[in-house]
Amino acid sequence: MKKAFALVLTNLFIAVVPSTLMAFHDGGVASCSGCHIIHNSQDGQIVNVVSASDNPYLLLRGTPSDTCLICHADYGQKSNDGQTLGPGGDFYWMTRDVSWNSPDEPGTATIYAREHGHNIDAPGNGIRPDPVLTRAPGGDFNSQYLGCNSCHDPHSNTNFRRLYGVGATEANYPGGYSFSHPAPTAIGSPHETRVMAPGAENMGQHTAYISGMSDWCANCHKDMHSGLTNRMVHPADVTLGAEISNNYNAYVTTSNKTGGGYAIAYLPLVPFEDAANTTVSSSGTRATSKIMCLTCHRAHASPYQKACRWDMGQTDLAASQPANEPYLAQYKGNPLDMTSQKDLCNKCHAKD
Ligand code: HEC
Ligand code: HEC
Ligand code: HEC
Ligand code: HEC
Ligand code: HEC
Ligand code: HEC
Repeated sequence: MKKAFALVLTNLFIAVVPSTLMAFHDGGVASCSGCHIIHNSQDGQIVNVVSASDNPYLLLRGTPSDTCLICHADYGQKSNDGQTLGPGGDFYWMTRDVSWNSPDEPGTATIYAREHGHNIDAPGNGIRPDPVLTRAPGGDFNSQYLGCNSCHDPHSNTNFRRLYGVGATEANYPGGYSFSHPAPTAIGSPHETRVMAPGAENMGQHTAYISGMSDWCANCHKDMHSGLTNRMVHPADVTLGAEISNNYNAYVTTSNKTGGGYAIAYLPLVPFEDAANTTVSSSGTRATSKIMCLTCHRAHASPYQKACRWDMGQTDLAASQPANEPYLAQYKGNPLDMTSQKDLCNKCHAKD
């Protein structure tokens, strides 16, 4: 009922503005009511039941993230089954423990829900702040305040995905939290990311990462960023060089390590930054292309540990946990031979 109310307002807005101004986040007075309510009352009924008497920022739900998910759960950012293929990943996994009988460990191995990525504060959607990682690893951002609005500006902003740039972020962070790096340069596909939706990631459609993603993540994870100096961690934001670039382009799958070529080498599961990338490009790497945080991670969450793009705990991807997760196989046009595909680190290192 509450959802219907928000949608009615949005539709009303769409109906009265010219199509060039239609996009919801592009502003216009009516769009305030897609997220805010002036009184906590509509037709005599309380609208925000989660925090009926204390409604900070007059939001339509008890927290900023629950407010975003009024619409964005349906677009695929938090699905009902984890089967969306958005480049950012599906927050569904933040609600699911994954357990299996591991041949390597006695008893049952488990990856807990909170270990699948970013635990946003969205109790209305079954997600709560991470009780273990109380600060961002390698940084000091307080996990209690992590929400969609920690990374995305809910108000107007022209950056890629409205990500915050240099300066303050969310208004509800006590004392404020200031980013020191600008938003990354990249181009995205449409925001609807369910399997068949126009923004789902596949071989012919993916984010075009150009530059600056690793620096941007370092706004909260400063010490996880290596540059060339900190060899404590895998290099990020460094150029691949000729040898690794050639590996990437030649590699197709474990059973075909040399059959590829620059023109067809792009694998959206193992992306990289390059000024030549477009959302539909299939070209592989150049020596000057860069490895970045999202080469290995999803920005939101994933079926695997630490928001990794593939299961880095298994030698063979067929053994990925959760088992029978169609996530990799349903990947349209996937060139990988899933019956004998080793860890995708090999796309660059060719050690399988
Ligand atoms: C997409 C959802 C969304 C829309 C649309 C939106 N807001 Fe907000 N607004 C938020 C959230 C979430 C906060 C909570 C604090 C934060 O994240 O910065 C907020 C906080 C605010 C605040 C207090 C904090 C500050 O930044 O000063 C004001 C004032 C505000 N909004 C006004 C508006 C107005 C006016 C509009 C319409 C032009 C609008 N908002 C549209 C989500 C939205
Ligand atoms: C009333 C529905 C609604 C709510 C609530 C809402 N959004 Fe959106 N959002 C949309 C629509 C529609 C689009 C696609 C059109 C557009 O970009 O405006 C979108 C697009 C986006 C995009 C992709 C923009 C791009 O560059 O492609 C981001 C990021 C986003 N929303 C973040 C948020 C965040 C963060 C919140 C909560 C603070 C939020 N949204 C709340 C409807 C909503
Ligand atoms: C606004 C601050 C902020 C930004 C920006 C941010 N993170 Fe995080 N990140 C956190 C916090 C806080 C935690 C710890 C809480 C948690 O795990 O949910 C965290 C945890 C993580 C984890 C561990 C998750 C787990 O399951 O244990 C990974 C991996 C991660 N971030 C990667 C990234 C990457 C990659 C980027 C850039 C795309 C990024 N982060 C950007 C705040 C941030
Ligand atoms: C830690 C930072 C962070 C948080 C928290 C976060 N996002 Fe994102 N989001 C990103 C980044 C970075 C991208 C770009 C991902 C890419 O293209 O690889 C993105 C992409 C998106 C997109 C485009 C579609 C997609 O799947 O790539 C939408 C829509 C979106 N986010 C909405 C949300 C909503 C709604 C929430 C909260 C429920 C949220 N985001 C929380 C960083 C974040
Ligand atoms: C080559 C792949 C790769 C790259 C590149 C990479 N990561 Fe990771 N990251 C991992 C793996 C795998 C883990 C799981 C733990 C481990 O093996 O160290 C992880 C774990 C993490 C964690 C969780 C740490 C904890 O204490 O739980 C964070 C945070 C993180 N990465 C952030 C980043 C950021 C930020 C970047 C970019 C500056 C980045 N990662 C680049 C593969 C990568
Ligand atoms: C997009 C390509 C790419 C992917 C994918 C990739 N790496 Fe790397 N890796 C690099 C680059 C570039 C270097 C730096 C090489 C250099 O400095 O000579 C590197 C260096 C390394 C090193 C040597 C580190 C050092 O400090 O000397 C190890 C070990 C390594 N990678 C392991 C991994 C593992 C494990 C994975 C999978 C989780 C992985 N890599 C995924 C590109 C990649």
